[in-house]
Amino acid sequence: MKDELKKIQEEFKKQLKEVADFAGLSDLEQKFFSRKSGEFTNIMKGLRQLTDDVKKEMGQKANEVKKDLEGLFESKREEIQAKEMANLTEREAIDVTQPLLPKKERGHLHPITLAQEKMEDVAANMGFIIEDGPELESDYYVFGALNFPDDHPARESMDTFYVLENEDWCMRAHVSNMQVRLMRKYNEGGTKAVRAAYPGKVYRNEALDATHEHTFHQFEAFVVDKTINIGNLVAVIKQLLKGLYNRDVEVRLRPGYFPFVEPGFEMDMKCLFCMGKGCRVCKNIGWVEMLGCGLMHPNVLKEGGYDPNEWSGLAFGMGLTRLAMMRYSIEDIRHFMSGDLRFLEQF
Ligand code: PHE
Repeated sequence: MKDELKKIQEEFKKQLKEVADFAGLSDLEQKFFSRKSGEFTNIMKGLRQLTDDVKKEMGQKANEVKKDLEGLFESKREEIQAKEMANLTEREAIDVTQPLLPKKERGHLHPITLAQEKMEDVAANMGFIIEDGPELESDYYVFGALNFPDDHPARESMDTFYVLENEDWCMRAHVSNMQVRLMRKYNEGGTKAVRAAYPGKVYRNEALDATHEHTFHQFEAFVVDKTINIGNLVAVIKQLLKGLYNRDVEVRLRPGYFPFVEPGFEMDMKCLFCMGKGCRVCKNIGWVEMLGCGLMHPNVLKEGGYDPNEWSGLAFGMGLTRLAMMRYSIEDIRHFMSGDLRFLEQF
């Protein structure tokens, strides 16, 4: 019996050494300790047939061996567990430097839309109502209400698309059609100051080249109040451009003619790329032509329902494409409407 115990002990140790995983461990446990047929269990069963003295002695011996084997078994179990955990952290490790695959395709807003939304934000924060209006418009709001006399050459300069056989209607050539519309909407019988900004699409019958398109976007705004002056005009525009470009801008006024403002100006901004030194974007001039502006003509105020002896106004309008070109240093305007993803994906 003693020899048998010794033999089993040796055998167990030998086989335990070869166990490498939990499955092997469980097999070994079955083989030696299973209740029905485990090799060690059988020896314990055999104890019953012995005489009491021997049983006591052998029982003690068997228990010692059992304890020994259980201890070995337990430390093997721990060893395997530690190994499995180490493997696990290796198997399931996350490499945070690995690029995302597959690359996610994400859309985004068009650069002109981005410029427009930014301008709307800045203007709204300055107390301007943001408005929208018709693109197919009566000749009256586009020209007549804005102090364009009939047959005035300024009408021609706009290269307007008229509705065939009905020249009372056209595709608006500028968003200034909103001036009289909005004054009438908000003036409360000519008693109320108004600040409004209105982005939108405009249409002109122009030859398509690097700087012109038949359809483009404008952003315009006006203020009607008492004692509006040119200082107000410049301050408001500078504030808006500062909001768009996130920095102070330098501007200059040149005389400009628009029938609906008096005096009227063209405004230039010091080129943001070269800071006035001269570069590709400003065509080496150092300044970029940004917008038309002026103080509202009394005839326009009158048309909008205000008494021009009491009320005054400022207005300015610009091409959003130009603003975006300046912002992103793009020299060919046709890119914007080309739908070319290689261009658009850069924003
Ligand atoms: N509507 C003019 C244009 O399209 C711009 C402008 C707006 C000029 C307001 C003066 C005042 O060129």
